[in-house]
Amino acid sequence: MAKMNAAVVTSLDEPPHYQQFEVPQPAAPEEILVDVLAAGLHPRVRSGAGGTHYTSTGTLPMIPGIDAVGQRPDGRRLYFAAGDGVIGTMADQAVVDLRRAVELPDGVDAAKIAAAMNPAMSSWVALRRRVPLRPGQSVLVLGATGNAGTMAVQVARRLGAGHVVGAGRDRERLDALLSLGADEVVALAGEQAGADAALGAAAGEADIVLDYLWGKPASRAMMALLLARSDRSRALDWIQIGAVAGPTIELPSVALRSANLRLQGNGQGAVSPAAYLAELPALVQEISSGAITVKPAAVPLAEVEAAWTRPEPAGVRTVLVP
Ligand SMILES: NC(=O)c1ccc[n+]([C@@H]2O[C@H](COP(=O)([O-])OP(=O)(O)OC[C@H]3O[C@@H](n4cnc5c(N)ncnc54)[C@H](OP(=O)(O)O)[C@@H]3O)[C@@H](O)[C@H]2O)c1
Repeated sequence: MAKMNAAVVTSLDEPPHYQQFEVPQPAAPEEILVDVLAAGLHPRVRSGAGGTHYTSTGTLPMIPGIDAVGQRPDGRRLYFAAGDGVIGTMADQAVVDLRRAVELPDGVDAAKIAAAMNPAMSSWVALRRRVPLRPGQSVLVLGATGNAGTMAVQVARRLGAGHVVGAGRDRERLDALLSLGADEVVALAGEQAGADAALGAAAGEADIVLDYLWGKPASRAMMALLLARSDRSRALDWIQIGAVAGPTIELPSVALRSANLRLQGNGQGAVSPAAYLAELPALVQEISSGAITVKPAAVPLAEVEAAWTRPEPAGVRTVLVP
């Protein structure tokens, strides 16, 4: 069996180690083997490698990585999403299912694509496929200071939102959103009643909420928005996307009874693979044109162990390069 270099998880309590692993083999007509050029270290990659993601089976050893930019033997490059198996993309080579891949135009920066597609896709697909945004609608991004939230502000604006509010707990990064398309920002940190009132004033009339937080902040925000709303029978589409503030919420029944609150989520499973795939070329274009900004930090795959544990500077997405 041919061998390659890979990031290999051998214990759910340890970062992956850089070591040799068998080269995976295509097993279906739609599958090909590619050289990996860049793979993003997204939160979902960490939870998969730590065994805490809901798709995790605990099977080891595993190669982490849920997506990447790869190069075919003829030189053409593509962006692809990996399957849910244990052989991911953080390796010299990976198997690509062409039904989950999109070809990249010449000149597109591989590290930028690897860094941005996963976080950007969360809002792009939510606003194009889950609850299609109508021009002029008002959007609240709850948890707007991370990579996905910051891109969500830009995506909402690009897709025609009339009013965009960003909420989060880091003041400096909130303020930076004002030059990226946010009309208003709200700090969730500090005294709770004041933060709830500020959120209600800024986003009480929102049509769509893109929620990256969940947990306590989402519960509070739901009530803050509903109490501030002038017409509670007007639809409020709440799209659950991330859960950095907690995996569950307490939802008062009154929130569903007294308002037209429509709660749903966005992610793979909520939208079909074909619908995701159809959105990827436009998203590649948005990222490569700079309409969606991203700061990739390219790190050699050989340094995966250190990259895994090193704190990531704000707004940066680590990309591992074999
Ligand atoms: N469903 C999907 O399709 C999809 C796709 C991509 C990402 N996601 C999910 O979206 C979430 C964010 O991903 P990301 O790539 O943006 O990660 P990220 O770049 O690491 O950002 C996470 C952000 O969350 C903030 N944060 C953490 N705890 C918080 C709290 N209690 N209150 C307010 N802010 C808090 C952090 O800011 P500070 O610590 O500086 O305040 C940080 O800016 C993750 O849960 C990820 O799995 C989902």
